[in-house]
Amino acid sequence: MGKDVIIACDFSSREETLNFLDKFTGRKPFVKIGMELYYAEGPQMVREIKARGHKIFLDLKLHDIPNTVKKAMSVLRNLDVDLVNLHAAGTKAMMEAALEGLTRPDGTRPLLIAVTQLTSTSQERMEQDLLIKEPLDQVVMHYAKTAQQAGLDGVVCSPLEAGKVHEVCGEGFLTVTPGVRFADGEVGDQVRVMTPEEAKRIGSDYIVVGRPITKAEDPVAAYERCIREFVD
Ligand code: C5P
Repeated sequence: MGKDVIIACDFSSREETLNFLDKFTGRKPFVKIGMELYYAEGPQMVREIKARGHKIFLDLKLHDIPNTVKKAMSVLRNLDVDLVNLHAAGTKAMMEAALEGLTRPDGTRPLLIAVTQLTSTSQERMEQDLLIKEPLDQVVMHYAKTAQQAGLDGVVCSPLEAGKVHEVCGEGFLTVTPGVRFADGEVGDQVRVMTPEEAKRIGSDYIVVGRPITKAEDPVAAYERCIREFVD
């Protein structure tokens, strides 16, 4: 898969989601389904969006004992999504088990990526709440390397970390980066942001864009602007 823009469909109902997707009559965007929509509408929502021809990133961030994650992944593999994720903090054994569960009998599987440290976690909170004392960027790189050793395809990280992840893990290791804002747009609650153009320059493989598209007056135009700045 090449560079692409993934729209975070952070909606709480099927109706709202389909009304939004109905606006896109040309190119079918790659969409991200997160916990809110999945817990509200269940796997049928995933099947329905897939049937409409969209690629899907199922962002459920699994984190449990290896056997439980393996079994959950073997259920998710039947949904025929393109990208799924888990928390690298679950350990290498959990990531290996996840990969096993996700692989179909014919050897195919969705891409699997790991959340390193959430972009909402600060150095201070990591030290005090998690008792991890190393610098945040070193922790992110260590998690990325561990995910790679476990056989995963990439990581979710801040666009600010994408270049370094590629240096450490190679250009073929995917970086999927949220926290993207237009130069002239609102930042909202994201702290460390980048424009689509900057994310392209730094080497992100996929940008995840939510509100700058979903809350735009013209979501299709906002999506197309992202494509122009990031892909073309
Ligand atoms: O609306 P906005 O563009 O901020 O949406 C970003 C999306 O990426 C949201 O779905 C959010 O949950 C997700 N995300 C994030 N930061 C992370 C991981 C996921 O913003 N570290």
